Parts: sequence; C-alpha cells; structure tokens
Amino acid sequence: ADYTITVDPSDRGPAIDDTMYGVFYEDINRAADGGLYAELVQNRSFEYSTADNASYTPLTAWTADGPAEVLNDDGRLNERNRHYLSLAAGSTVTNTGYNTGIHVEKGERYDFSVWARADDGTTLAVTLRDAAGPLAKVRQVAARGKWRKYTATFTATRTSNRGRLAVATTAPAALDMVSLFPRDTYRHQPNGLRKDLAEKIEALDPGFLRFPGGCLVNTGSMEDYSADSGWQRKRSYQWKDTIGPVEERATNANFWGYNQSYGLGYYEYFRFAEDIGAMPLPVVPALVTGCGQNRAVDDDALLKRHIQDTLDLIEFANGPRTSEWGGKRAEMGHPKPFHLTHLEVGNEENLPKEFFARFEQFRAAIEAEYPDITVVSNSGPDDSGTTFDTAWQLNRDAGVDMVDEHYYNSPQWFLQNNDRYDSYDRNGPKVFLGEYASQGNAWKNALAEAAFMTGLERNADVVKLASYAPLLSNEDYVQWSPDLIWFNNHASWGSANYEVQKLFMNNTGDRVVPSSATGTPAVSGPITGAVGLSTWATGAAYDDVRVTSADGETLLSDDFSGDASQWTHTGAGSWTVQDGQYVQTDAAAENTMVTAGDPAWHDYDLHVRATKKSGK
Ligand code: AHR
Repeated sequence: ADYTITVDPSDRGPAIDDTMYGVFYEDINRAADGGLYAELVQNRSFEYSTADNASYTPLTAWTADGPAEVLNDDGRLNERNRHYLSLAAGSTVTNTGYNTGIHVEKGERYDFSVWARADDGTTLAVTLRDAAGPLAKVRQVAARGKWRKYTATFTATRTSNRGRLAVATTAPAALDMVSLFPRDTYRHQPNGLRKDLAEKIEALDPGFLRFPGGCLVNTGSMEDYSADSGWQRKRSYQWKDTIGPVEERATNANFWGYNQSYGLGYYEYFRFAEDIGAMPLPVVPALVTGCGQNRAVDDDALLKRHIQDTLDLIEFANGPRTSEWGGKRAEMGHPKPFHLTHLEVGNEENLPKEFFARFEQFRAAIEAEYPDITVVSNSGPDDSGTTFDTAWQLNRDAGVDMVDEHYYNSPQWFLQNNDRYDSYDRNGPKVFLGEYASQGNAWKNALAEAAFMTGLERNADVVKLASYAPLLSNEDYVQWSPDLIWFNNHASWGSANYEVQKLFMNNTGDRVVPSSATGTPAVSGPITGAVGLSTWATGAAYDDVRVTSADGETLLSDDFSGDASQWTHTGAGSWTVQDGQYVQTDAAAENTMVTAGDPAWHDYDLHVRATKKSGK
C-alpha cells in the first residue's frame, strides 16, 4: 500500500540528551569475576563458602597435590580476608580459572602475585601450563618470614584457554590472594578490566553507566551490617566494602548464587565510567528487599547508617582530596572528582509505601547536603498494576525528579507499546528506563527493541535515560538470558540487540523532528535467512557448521565433506575445501551463505568448529 511520511525540519520537538542511552551493568552471569574483572584466578583468596553457593568449598577451583588446608584463625592476612591456605612442604595447589581454564595468548605478559608467610629460605615454584605442557617459564619466589606480597611476570610461549596456575612450596607456607592478571588490561590499568569486554562496552558510546545492579544491590541480610563483631558473610551490597587495597576487600555472597570478590569495586566502576565518557549512576540499597522478597527492615540506626554511607559515597565521588572520603579516592589514584550527578535509591521495590518512607529520608539527607544531585526513585518490579500505580502516585505527589521503570516483555509487546510514553504527564517525574529487554537475542528481538526506542526518543522530554539489561553474560554461568554481550574465557561477542544499542548510542540526535505517516508499511515477500562467517586470518578453517532453530531442528549443516557450493563470498580472499574443512587461503575474505526463507530462521543457534584461531 502507498504511505507517506511527512517531516518538517523547521518543526522542533524535544531535545535529546547526550546521556539518553546508557548501559546497565550488574554483577550477574559472572559479569565481574570471570568476566569484566581481568583476574584469571578463581577463588584467589580461598573465601568461597556454602554461604555463597551450597556446592562451594574453600578449595573450589583449586586442586591440591599433597597436604593443603584452608584455615581461618589468628594467622590470617587481615580481619577482612579471613581464610588462607596452609600448604605443607612439597605440596602443590593448582587453580583451574574460569570456563575451560586460564586463557593466555602467545607473547603476552601476565603478572602473578601472591601474599605468603613462610620461613626464610622457602621457595615457591609457580607454573603456568596446560595438559600439553608449559605455557611459560617456571618462576621461583623466595619467601621471607611474615606476610608479604611477592610478584613475578610470565610471558606466554603458547596460546591456550585451558591453562592452569600451580604453586608448589619447598617448606610449609601460608598463601593468600593468589593472582594472575594479563598485563594487557583495558587501558593497561592495574587491577584492571578485561580488554575485549571493556572495549565492547566503550564501543557502544554509552551516555551513562548504572551499576552495580539490580537485585544484587538491595537483597541480603541487611541486619548483618549493624553487627560490628567481626566480618559477617552475606551482607547486603555496601560500596565501602569494595574500595581500598584488594587484599583488604572482603568477598561476599552474590545475590545470583556465587561469590563476589569485590576486586571490581566502586573505584573501578567510577574509573570505567570516566574512561568511556559515561555519567556514573550508582544504585544504593534502600533497606527494603525487592526482587521477590517482601521485607522492609525496621531499624532506625541501620537506616541512618545507610543514609550516611550514601552521603559518604557522594563525598567519595565528588569531595576534595582533603575530605575523608575524597581522600580515599585520591589515595587510590584519582585526586580529581568523578562528577557524580545522579544516584538511585533502591531497586524494584515491591513494597511501595515502605520503600517510599525510606526513600524520602535518603532524599532529604542528600538534598540537604548536595542539592545538585538528582535522586532517582523506583516504580516497583512491574511495568503496570497496583504496586506500579501506587509507587508512581507517591513519586508524583512528592515531586520526585526521576523514577526508574523496568520491564522484560515479548517482542510483540515492544512493538505494540511504542506509544507508551506519549501519554505520560509532562509535569511529573522524568523516566529512567533502567532495565528492559524483549526476551530474546534473536534478530526479531533486536528489531522490536529498535522500534520501541524510536518511541523513547520521540518522548525524550519525559524519558531521560534508558538502558537494556542485563549487559554481560559468561556463557558457562548464566543466571539470566537474554543479555547484551556474551563471552567465555577467551572470546566475546555482541548480540543483535547489542548492534541496535550501538546504533542508537553512536547516533543520538540533538532534537526530535516530529513526523507523521499516512499508514503502516506492510512487510511482504519471502523472509530470507543468512549466516555469515567472517575471518581475517589466513589459514582459518571451519568444520561442522550447523544452524539449528530454537526448538532444535537443523536448518543447515555443512561438514565440508563435499564441495562448498552453498557458500558465496564477499570480500577479497579465497577459500578452499581441504581434508573435510573449509580453509581460508589468503587474508581479507568474508564468506556468507544465503538460503531461501523460513521464519524459523529468526530463532537460530549457530554451531561452528573453527580449527584455527582467527583475527575476529
Ligand atoms: O537485569 C536482571 C534483573 O532484572 C535485575 O537484577 C533486576 O533489577 C531485574 O529484576
């Protein structure tokens, strides 16, 4: 059918803020340890416990050859890092890393460190190897008495993603904080981030970074925080636990069922936000447990302490180096402020009245001391219903600046709700769409989200911030799917949804130009699916390419036992079938297979065996 779009460039719609599209980072799906935090050793300080996950022991991710025992006694490294390993003379412990093991790249450098206590003359032999043999030269560390930190550097002689790090001792030794970091972290920062993941996030060009979660933030045993009698496990997420020297950051149970080392903490989040040019937007717990747990903590002293912590957080981010918390930021290496302007209290609070009573106290205290900070409130766990309406009413009545909404719905819902914000009150609180996704990483999901985002943008006077959720997922430790960026221990890849976010974030307009259309264009004709495999490495080879539909039906398979006539090439370069594999014989080739359409192609899994590491 004919249709007409009318655009009048002189007609000026609302301005679109540069911060409009951002990212929501949550430590879920091992987004931090085993993910964005570049540490390669798992359970480096022997703190894993059943409080984190019923299957854990203090030696999870370690194997011992010879007597080795994890102790929690007065000989510990410090009060917050309570467990350490006691290794007998002649014993060896080996760490398995994450996923298939420790990933090292030939020619790259890796910084090893360990805290050890052992008699003078004790030698620690540190080995990096996989089943095929050494991955680097063995390093010797000569221990000298009381707890000290020792370091050594490895240069990998081979590439492997199945590496193991082993420490052997010639005499009894106590070990803690056994660590291995790639030298090549994002921006070469110490205690840094995994480069490929950080760069993928940076490439989005996000306007803001909401962190450190979600449900992660406001659940846990809030009461434990008031206990001053030593370190308590399973505390709610508190930013002060995550700063300072890493060996003094206690680990904690993560809401998503694993241990979080806090090696990636608030300082690192602020630094990352600054590096990628994103506005930092931390979320603090509100003492009401959302995320399915209907509980409000009634403890005035505890509430006051959390409010004070929030004021201290603002001082940590923005205060001068002469202030107490600004001084701690400076000590960690950042004398200049981080320019915090927005802060969220609570997440998905499903007790709106209880939440709001606490939120009001946070807001009053923050506004009294920092009137320029925007305090973001909540609308509950659902995008509609009584809780949602009550929360919005409370927020509206109190003149709250901005309210966080979350929803995870079908692609159809996103297509049907493009007009969601057309009717929002222009004089009420602004919207922070802090979490949304259309329940899938297929192309149709990405497309539905893109369509929905045009509705967000059209309403840029009301919707001020929006972020897809969640951001990261390690493919072997998934609690929540879909996710924007996927990874394992050696590779990462953006979803179709990632490409949509990238497109919008890298092309944010200054102002909406209102438009109207006379009808809705119909999509007709066959739907065509295509699978593209791209590589830039000469000698890269593929085998057993299979595409299956969401319900397991094989849509395409090629084991290259015959010819490769199914494949057409784009790009310069040549490929040939050799020994049942499809091999690239020179560089700069891309090959793409196109097949006739079936809507099932919109939900597919691609399986491919690449028999040589490629440049992409
Ligand atoms: O994004 C995953 C989870 O979804 C978040 O933790 C929570 O806020 C929401 O329920």
